[in-house]
Amino acid sequence: MRAYDIILKKRNGKELSTDEIEFLIKEYTAGRLPDYQLAVWTMAVFFQGMNRRETADLTMAMADSGERIDLSPINGVKVDKHSTGGVGDTTTLVLAPLVAAAGVSVAKMSGRGLGHTGGTIDKLEAIPGFDTSLSLEKFINNVNRLQVAVAGQTKNLAPADKKLYSLRDVTATVDSIPLIASSIMSKKIAAGSENIVLDVKVGSGAFMKTYEEAKKLAESMVEIGKEVDCQTVAVISNMDQPLGQAVGNALEVREAVKTLRGEGPEDLIELCFTLGTQMLKLAGIVQTEAEGRKRLEEVLNSRAALEKFKELISAQGGNPKVIDDLSLLPTAKKKIEIKAQKKGYIERIDAEEVGLAAMMLGAGRETKEDDIDLAVGVTVKSKVGDKVNPEDTLATLYINDDNNLKDIKNRIQQAYTIIDKESENNKLIYEIIE
Ligand code: URA
Ligand code: CA
Repeated sequence: MRAYDIILKKRNGKELSTDEIEFLIKEYTAGRLPDYQLAVWTMAVFFQGMNRRETADLTMAMADSGERIDLSPINGVKVDKHSTGGVGDTTTLVLAPLVAAAGVSVAKMSGRGLGHTGGTIDKLEAIPGFDTSLSLEKFINNVNRLQVAVAGQTKNLAPADKKLYSLRDVTATVDSIPLIASSIMSKKIAAGSENIVLDVKVGSGAFMKTYEEAKKLAESMVEIGKEVDCQTVAVISNMDQPLGQAVGNALEVREAVKTLRGEGPEDLIELCFTLGTQMLKLAGIVQTEAEGRKRLEEVLNSRAALEKFKELISAQGGNPKVIDDLSLLPTAKKKIEIKAQKKGYIERIDAEEVGLAAMMLGAGRETKEDDIDLAVGVTVKSKVGDKVNPEDTLATLYINDDNNLKDIKNRIQQAYTIIDKESENNKLIYEIIE
C-alpha cells in the first residue's frame, strides 16, 4: 500500500477501505509517513468528506493507536458524559454525584481547561486536598465502592489523534465534521467508555457556532457509536451565554454545591436533569424520561446527591467540610461589580468573551504551561431575558490582582447585548439525538 494512492483516491472523492485508513494511521503514528502527506489527506477529507463506515474506521484506528483503558472490572453498567466544551460549564461537578446517587456508575476521566473553556480537573482541584491523579486501580475501586470517581487522564491515549490534531490545527482542517467526530470518539473509546451521553454545545462560547453544524456533529458521533458498539446519545444545548452564573474554578465548585443543595441556577439544573435522564436511560435504570427526571428530583431533594459529592471528595483526599462551609474554598481578595450602562432587556451574553475575561483574571490558561488562580473568575448575575436598569449589576469580577482590569471590564460590558424589546425566550436544550 502507498500513502500516495490513498491520498489520490480521497482527493478524487472515492471511499477508502478499512485497510487503507488503518495503514495511514498506523504508519503516521509510527513516524513512517511525513506530516505533509497526512496534511493533504486531511484537506482531501475536508473537501470530500467521509461516510459513516470510513468515519468509524478512522475512530477505531485512532483509538487503537496507543493504549486502551480497560474499565471492565467496574461492576454493572457505567455511563460516561462528555461535553464538547463550554464556558462556566459546571455540569460534571453536579451530574457525576447526581446520577451516581441515582444508581449509575460514573467513571469520569476529565481534562484541564484551555483558552476560554474550563476543565473539570482544575475545578475539582479548588477543593483543598482533592487528588485528581488516581491510579487506574484506585479509580476502579472507588467506582465500585461509591459508584463515582473523577480523575485526570494519565495515559497517552489515542496518540494518533494528538498528532493529527496538531497537524489540523496549523493546516486549517480542524473544522471537518468527520475529523472532529472521530477525534472526540476515539479518545472516549480509548478511555474505556461503553455508553456515552454527549453534550454538544452550540453558540458563541462553543466549538460549533451554529445549530446546523452542531446537529451534524452530534449525528456523526451517534452514528460512530452505532458502528462501534458504544451506545451514544447526544444532547444539543445552548452556549449563547455562560451556563449558570459562575465562571471560574472555586466559584464553580460553590455553584455546584449550591445546586446540589437545591439552590442552583435554573439553566444548570435543567441541563443536568436532561443529561442525567439520558444517562439513567442508557444504564437501563429507567425506561422513560419522566421516570428519569423523577428519580433525579428524588435524589436531589433528599440530599442524597449532595451526600454523594461529599463522599466523592473524601474518597479522593479532599476536605469534605467544604460541602457545609463554602468559605473553606479559595477566595479572591476583591470583588468588583460591573453595572449596566443603559436600560433594556438582555438579548445575549457572548460566552467566549466572558470566558476570556475569566482567563485574563487568571482562572484559565492561555497556553498549556500556564498556572491558574483557583479563586478568581466572574459571576454572571444578569442573564438573557432579564430586564436591567442603569446601575443594576450585570456581573461580578472576583480578582486577586489589578492587571488588565480595564480591558477585562470592557470585555464584560461588550459581552452583553442589551436591547429595547424583551428578547425571544432563549432555549437551553435544542434537541436530543439517539
Ligand atoms: N475537540 C476534539 O477533541 N477534537 C477535535 O477535532 C475538535 C474538538
Ligand atoms: Ca457555571
